[in-house]
Amino acid sequence: MKMENLTSEQILEWYLCAGVDETCGESPFMPPPSASEQTTPAAVSALRRATTGLAQAVNSACRSAKDLCAGINTLEELRQAVESFDGCALKLTASHTVFGDGNPHARVVLIGEAPGADEDRVGIPFVGRSGHLLDKMLAAAGLERKEVYICNILPWRPPGNRTPLDSEVAVCLPFLKRQLDLIDPDYIFIMGGSAANALLETAETISKMRGKWFEYTKSNGKTASVLASFHPAYLLRTPGQKSKSWADLLRLRARMLAENG
Ligand code: URA
Repeated sequence: MKMENLTSEQILEWYLCAGVDETCGESPFMPPPSASEQTTPAAVSALRRATTGLAQAVNSACRSAKDLCAGINTLEELRQAVESFDGCALKLTASHTVFGDGNPHARVVLIGEAPGADEDRVGIPFVGRSGHLLDKMLAAAGLERKEVYICNILPWRPPGNRTPLDSEVAVCLPFLKRQLDLIDPDYIFIMGGSAANALLETAETISKMRGKWFEYTKSNGKTASVLASFHPAYLLRTPGQKSKSWADLLRLRARMLAENG
């Protein structure tokens, strides 16, 4: 059947089934609907149904991510569950699932936003330019990469490194939370506003949050001390802010030493 013979409702349904859940530009790629189609109550209700369908799809993906996580008791099982999860369309455009890297018993977990091109190619978080800067920052603060655990809010690269959608974060968050439960860190260092907003459930800017202590409660009821700071990619673009991230890492290190020696 030709596309031009379909109603706008059928076209929207077709896109939904194909996994399309966002628009990526201002201009339509298809001939625009005729004036009568745009204004008919049928077109309006088709759009409403499509929006409801999307919301339902996101809710059901969140539910299945949570259900999956509930039965998982090791990081390796979780890695496999994330790799075989099909509820997030980002997986379709990614080359690798980037689950996490480092010491599974680490006292401190560092969380970024999402894999970039290098991480997507290799399957390991923070191995590109941001990762090199992060390694240097960690070393300068007396923390070795192999003693910490590093992961991201999203395990798949958003195309073109765009900012993650709220729906993508919502679907993937249960996996990150389970990862934190299983590692059970005492400290969490969040890099960047998207990751801080997602984990701390706030809309505050990273400039306001950085350098302050927050708490995150794991499923065992214990809390981890959380410090948020700028993302290394932002520091590469804005080197004048590096001293603030440096101060944040020293703050983290000082607290770890004071509490545990
Ligand atoms: N940026 C991130 O947020 N995470 C990575 O793994 C790499 C770059």
